[in-house]
Amino acid sequence: MNESLWIFGYGSIIWKTGFDYDESRLAYLPDRARRFWQASTDHRGTIASPGRVVTLIDQPGENCWGMAFKVPSASVELTLSNLDVREVGGYERESVTIHFPDKDPVRGLTYTAHPANPNYLGPASAVDIASQIASSEGPSGSNNEYVFELALALDNLQVEDPHIQDIAGLLKERTDTENAP
Ligand code: SIN
Repeated sequence: MNESLWIFGYGSIIWKTGFDYDESRLAYLPDRARRFWQASTDHRGTIASPGRVVTLIDQPGENCWGMAFKVPSASVELTLSNLDVREVGGYERESVTIHFPDKDPVRGLTYTAHPANPNYLGPASAVDIASQIASSEGPSGSNNEYVFELALALDNLQVEDPHIQDIAGLLKERTDTENAP
């Protein structure tokens, strides 16, 4: 019989969770960071014009903050099969130890896009990342929306992530300029 499962979300899973859970908590993965280093050809871009979405990288000394969701045992199988489809563009299940500010850590899993996957783009300047995102749109919506929703969700959690804030700030400047009278 399945047991309940903790899933750590650091990108769209924070603000567009899309599965049932019994409990959610602010959480972090030590020695990891969130980066817009993964191409999206299926959600926020297309094969011809890929967008950029976040993945996790190793970053000793940093914490990647996000949300952990406790999926009840009866929902684990369906949740994982749906997430495997949703995250098919290069992400893989990774077993992790999820930490909380004031509770004992738990084992769980997250979806990580490793450098060996075909959609991995790797580092680029914030300006280059923002201009790629500004011109990308896919079946799940605009790439801008992904960034703004993530930035807002982190803000609401009082999580500071300079990489996300820089890119969201550049995109906001661009949209403000475009919408100026
Ligand atoms: C996640 O949200 O944890 C994975 C990346 C994404 O789907 O945006």
